[in-house]
Amino acid sequence: MSSPAGLVVRRARVDEIFPLRHAVLRPGRPVTYSVYSEDAGAVHVGAWDDGELVGCATVFPDPWAGPSPPAEEKAWRLRGMAVDPSRQGQGVGGAVLAEAVAAAVEARAPLLWANARTQALRFYARHGFAEAGEEFVTPDTGLPHVPIVLRLPA
Ligand SMILES: CC(C)(COP(=O)(O)OP(=O)(O)OC[C@H]1O[C@@H](n2cnc3c(N)ncnc32)[C@H](O)[C@@H]1OP(=O)(O)O)[C@@H](O)C(=O)NCCC(=O)NCCS
Repeated sequence: MSSPAGLVVRRARVDEIFPLRHAVLRPGRPVTYSVYSEDAGAVHVGAWDDGELVGCATVFPDPWAGPSPPAEEKAWRLRGMAVDPSRQGQGVGGAVLAEAVAAAVEARAPLLWANARTQALRFYARHGFAEAGEEFVTPDTGLPHVPIVLRLPA
């Protein structure tokens, strides 16, 4: 699915993307729920349409614990993948994810992983991610998640 014409996708500061991350992924919760301890050293990606922020994601170094695929000390992790509800299903998420993956590849990470919401597995599968573990529910969302991985070109 190609991204909407005119969409500007670029690296961003955390304060630029934080409001959307929080509004989509932790609505009604204290803002602290959306603060990641890794934010300071992470790469943040934002997508703007006509100057309006419509999508975001964050990637940072975080070892993959394995067992399948085997543990990977130099892996990177994806978090905070979110698209404005009024713009979902239009290719924005795919464009943001592509830029986040590019950042992990630039950092020579051998693998990118995430704890994905089960409802979004089709989206990630479309972008090459494979399921890599059992489903579990995260306490702060109460939603089912599945570990997913994407092997990156060395
Ligand atoms: C999942 C998400 C990031 C995908 O971004 P998007 O811009 O909607 O996705 P794209 O338009 O690039 O790709 C379309 C695919 O996304 C998936 N998708 C679209 N809307 C979705 C939604 N509300 N929830 C989950 N997946 C969705 C579908 O698989 C869709 O393809 P399909 O209709 O052929 O199945 C976005 O829908 C979202 O922010 N959902 C709510 C929060 C969330 O689940 N984030 C991921 C946490 S791990």
